[in-house]
Amino acid sequence: MQDGRTTLTQFIIEEQRHVAGATGDFTGLLNDIATACKVISNAVSKGALIGLLGNAGAENVQGEVQKKLDVISNDVMIKSNEWAGHLSGMASEEMEDIYPISGSNVRGKYLLVFDPLDGSSNIDVNITVGTIFSILRSPSFASNAGSDCKTEDFLQPGAQQVCAGFALYGPSTLLIITTGHGVNGFTLDREVGEFILTHPDMRIPEDTQEFAINASNERFWEWPVKRYVDECLAGKTGPRAKDFNMRWIASMVAETYRILTRGGVFMYPKDTKDPAKPGRLRLLYEANPVGFIVEQAGGLCTTGLERMLDVQPTALHQRVPLIFGSKNEVERIERYHRELRAAA
Ligand code: AHG
Ligand code: MN
Ligand code: MN
Repeated sequence: MQDGRTTLTQFIIEEQRHVAGATGDFTGLLNDIATACKVISNAVSKGALIGLLGNAGAENVQGEVQKKLDVISNDVMIKSNEWAGHLSGMASEEMEDIYPISGSNVRGKYLLVFDPLDGSSNIDVNITVGTIFSILRSPSFASNAGSDCKTEDFLQPGAQQVCAGFALYGPSTLLIITTGHGVNGFTLDREVGEFILTHPDMRIPEDTQEFAINASNERFWEWPVKRYVDECLAGKTGPRAKDFNMRWIASMVAETYRILTRGGVFMYPKDTKDPAKPGRLRLLYEANPVGFIVEQAGGLCTTGLERMLDVQPTALHQRVPLIFGSKNEVERIERYHRELRAAA
């Protein structure tokens, strides 16, 4: 405790007591992730001053143009987390294949999966972006500590996450984490260089009057989502008998934090814009960590047809339809999906 404030380090050590078999590895890993987020926050805040805006001149495995800060943030996450012996491997939105820990680096019992910079299409227009991460146990390490991790080690349902979190690089830099015992938010005190507990036990209100969706895709939406949004737009005189507000930041981490603080529902549904894609957002390093956090805060996270954390991954960069937020609204959207299926 520093002048009555709880630092992230103190909090993690207390949390570690909840994680079965935790040996300090977990504490060390979370501290290394927090350090990476501080470094990324510093780079993001300097942007144009040090020539870091704009495109990196390459595409990632998703076929998306990489921003310079996508690549830099990815490198920071790798360098901050590969050396300490807590991990057997890493996987990232910005890397096609997994990154096994090997050579001079000592392997550890966890796997780290991350989106190093979420919402990065916003970076050149100075809108809030963030880093999303998910910690899993490494099956390879458990069976043979001397063996390299394999891609299939990462293909675990989200319900098996040990920890999930995201950093938010906005007016202030925040770190939101869960280890399965609720959701806690920390604010970076730049003068001290510490994340301070400022949002203990975050809860999502079960009802809301605010929804988030990229409305330019309306003509591609699946019917249950179109029905839900049309009813919201009908307002007081429609079937919901109340008016709704809409938000779309195109930075999922920022939407997630808003929903954590005042409720809401986020939808990036399956749409027919690109029939080959079952959704825009990625399961392992976007939907699952956010789903873990949202559920721990009393909300729900679904594909529309299935609880997100139950989805069995089949590929590292697998995309999914993603709907999450206030419990009663997400339940309504799931019901609309069931009614459609029953009518088929
Ligand atoms: P990323 O920057 O990591 O590729 O993620 C961006 C995602 C998500 O953050 C956001 O909600 C969504 O893409 C925005 O998609 P549109 O640009 O299609 O609205
Ligand atoms: Mn992302
Ligand atoms: Mn990204």
